[in-house]
Amino acid sequence: MTKHVNLVGSRQGRLRISWFLAVWVTACCGLRAQDIVLSDFEQTNYAWLPGGSWTVTGTAFGAGPAHGTLSGQMVVAGYQGHGLVNSFNGGDAGTGTLTSPPFILQRHYLEFLMGGGGFADRTFMELLVDGKSVRTACGSNTQPGGSEQLSWQGWEVSELAGKTAVLRIVDNANGGWGHINADQIVQTDIQHPGMLTEARRDFPAGRSYLRIPIKNGAAARQVTLLVDGVAVVVNDLELADGKPDWWAFMDVRRWPGQTVSLQVDKLPVASAALRAIEPGNDLQDADNLYHESLRGQLHFSSRRGWNNDPNGLCYYQGEYHLFYQHNPYGWNWGNMHWGHATSPDMVHWREWGDVLAPDQFGPMFSGSAVVDWQNTSGFGTAGKPPLVLVYTAAGQPSVQCLAASTDGRVFTKFSGNPVVPQISDGNRDPKVRWYAPAKKWIMCLYAGHNHVNAIYFLSSPDLKHWTVMSHVDGLFECPDFFELPVDGNPASRQWVLTAASSEYFVGTFDGTTFTPQTPKLPGHRGRGFYAAQTFSDLPARDGRRIQIGWLQTATPGMPFNQAMSLPNELRLTQTPEGPRLTWTPVKEIQSLRTHAHEAGALTLRAGDANPLAHVKSELVELRADFAPGTATTVFQVRGITISYDPGKQELSVADLHVPAPLRGGKQRLILYCDRTALEIYASDGLTYVPFPDQANPQDLALSVQVHGDRVEFSALTVYELKSAWP
Ligand code: FRU
Repeated sequence: MTKHVNLVGSRQGRLRISWFLAVWVTACCGLRAQDIVLSDFEQTNYAWLPGGSWTVTGTAFGAGPAHGTLSGQMVVAGYQGHGLVNSFNGGDAGTGTLTSPPFILQRHYLEFLMGGGGFADRTFMELLVDGKSVRTACGSNTQPGGSEQLSWQGWEVSELAGKTAVLRIVDNANGGWGHINADQIVQTDIQHPGMLTEARRDFPAGRSYLRIPIKNGAAARQVTLLVDGVAVVVNDLELADGKPDWWAFMDVRRWPGQTVSLQVDKLPVASAALRAIEPGNDLQDADNLYHESLRGQLHFSSRRGWNNDPNGLCYYQGEYHLFYQHNPYGWNWGNMHWGHATSPDMVHWREWGDVLAPDQFGPMFSGSAVVDWQNTSGFGTAGKPPLVLVYTAAGQPSVQCLAASTDGRVFTKFSGNPVVPQISDGNRDPKVRWYAPAKKWIMCLYAGHNHVNAIYFLSSPDLKHWTVMSHVDGLFECPDFFELPVDGNPASRQWVLTAASSEYFVGTFDGTTFTPQTPKLPGHRGRGFYAAQTFSDLPARDGRRIQIGWLQTATPGMPFNQAMSLPNELRLTQTPEGPRLTWTPVKEIQSLRTHAHEAGALTLRAGDANPLAHVKSELVELRADFAPGTATTVFQVRGITISYDPGKQELSVADLHVPAPLRGGKQRLILYCDRTALEIYASDGLTYVPFPDQANPQDLALSVQVHGDRVEFSALTVYELKSAWP
C-alpha cells in the first residue's frame, strides 16, 4: 500500500500510470463492440438484417422500402443508399404500421435517420420493451412548407441493455405531413457525430438584436434563449446551416448588461447557423426596409417574419394600437408572439417589437385590448387607466390570460394568469368590451362544444374573474361584438356578432344573451381576409366602428409574409332584406393622395377613348359613381380586370364574381390598389372585396371601357398615392 502511494507520488510512477492508462484506453477502443445494423432498407422487402423482416399493416408503407421520393412528394433527401422507409404510399392519406421482430438491446445507443411528419402521436417510431413504449421519435414537420430531409436521431438505451425490444413505426395521420420517413437503424456504442445536441453560444451584452439566419423549409430546431443562464423562451427556428433566405432578429434590449445565450437542441456538426448569428444594433439587410418589392405600401406588414390576425386593436393615450399574431423567426405560421405597432392615424405605423412571447401556458394566440377607465382591474395607477391585453395562451389546457401597461409600451403579464380556465379544447380569441348598462365587462370567446362551433359570452366585474353567461352557435374563431346605429339613427341600434370568416348575425343583447334576428350573413365577398376585429375605446367624439382584418398576401422571396387590410369603417344600413353591414375605407387613407386625375362627369360609350389613358400610378385610389343603364363597365387597373354587369348586378374581379346590387340605379365603386392586393368597395360598401393579387410591377396603366350602350359617370377620379412607410 505504502509502495503504491510512493509510486503514484513519484515522477517515474506518474509516467508509468499514464502508460498503463494509454494501453487500457486503446485496448478498450479496439474492443469497442461493433455497430449492429438492424435495417438499412436496401432489400426489396422490409428485411431485418439480424434475420427476419418487419411486419407491415395498412397501405402507407407499401410492400417494401421506397427508392427515394414517391409520386406527389417533395424531394426526399438525406437517406443512405437507395432504399428507405417512406409512408407516403397513397400520399399523406395512407396509414399503417411497420413492426420489427423482437431483438436484444446490446449497445448504448439506437441511432437512425428520420424525417417527415412531426406529430409525436401520429407519425412516429417507438421502442417497445415489455409492450410498453419507452422511447419515441418523429420527423420535424407539422406546417405547410417544411422539408423532406432526413436527419440523424437516436436514443440512449444503456439502462435497457439486455432487454428484448421491438421497434414500431407508425403512420396514423392523413392530413398535411401525414407520413414518416426512416432509414439506417443501428445499435451502436458511439453517438452519431452527425448532430450536435444542446449546442450553445453566449453573446456579449450591449447589443440590441441577435441576427439569425433563416432558411425557409429547413428542419425546425428548438432554440432556447437564456439570460444569465436562465431559460426565458423557446422557439422553433428553421435555422440556415448554410446560406440563409433571410435574417430574423431577436430583440434582446430587455436585458442590457446581461449575458444572452442561444441553445439549439440539435444541429448538424457542419452547420454554420450558430456561428453565423450576429449581435448588432440594427436589422440585417435593412437598407430597403418597408420598400422591398413585395411590401404593401398602403397596408401594414411586419418588418420581419410572419403575421396573421390583428389583435388588441384599440386607442390609448392618443395613439392607435395594432397588435398582431407574429412569428418573428419564421416565414410561416408558428412561435406565436404579439407584435406591436402604433399609429397617429391608422395609416402610418411604427413597430415597437413584440410584447407577448410564448410562456409556460403556451404560445400567444389572438385576443383583444381594452382601456380599463375605472381601473376595475387595479392594474392602473391614480389618473392612469391601464391598457389591458386579454389573450389566449394556447397550451394544454388552452386558457385566457391578461397583460397590462400604463404607458402603451411595456406590458406585464398578470401574475394571477390564467383568468379563464379551459371551457373546451381549442377555446380561444377573447374579445372583451365594457357593457355600460350593467357596468361589467363582456368577453366573447370562441369555444366548440359537441363538435359545434360556438361563441361563449362571459362577464366580469374586474377583468380577472369571469362567469359564463350564455353562448351562440354557428361561428368559428375570432369573435367580435359591437352595437351600431341603423342608418346612423341613434334611436335604432342593433348588436352585431361576427367572427373570423367575417360572417355575422345582427340581433339584440340583454346584457346576458345575444339573440340573433337574422340568419348568418355573409361578410366580405373577396379572398384572403380573415380574423378581423374592430378598435376598442375610440374617442366618443369619433363615433366610428373601425375594423382591420388579416390580409393574406403572399410575399415569396421577402423576409416577411402577409399583411393587414386597410382600416374600414363598419356601418349598418337598412336594406329590403333587413339591416346589413357596410365597409368603407376610413378617410385617413386620403392623406396618401398626391395627384388627382378627375375624368368625370362624362358619358362613356362602347369604343370611346380611354378617359384614364394619361394616368400611370403604382399605388392607386379610384372612385367611380356611375349609372350603368344596361351596359357593362370594364376597368383595368394595373393589369387586373374589374367589371360591373348591371344585368346580373354582379361585380367581377379577375375570376371572382360577387353580388353587388345597384343602389337607386347607380353603382359607386371605391378601389385601392397596392403591390400585393386590391380592396374594392361596391354598392355603398355592402360589397367589400379584399383581393390579394400581385400587380405587374411594369404595368402602371389604368383604363375604363364600356360594353353595350353607354354609362353615365357622375364622378370618375383617380388619385395617385404615396407610400405610407417612412
Ligand atoms: C385565426 C387563428 C386564431 C388563433 C390564431 C393563432 O387565424 O387561428 O383562432 O388565435 O389564429 O395564430
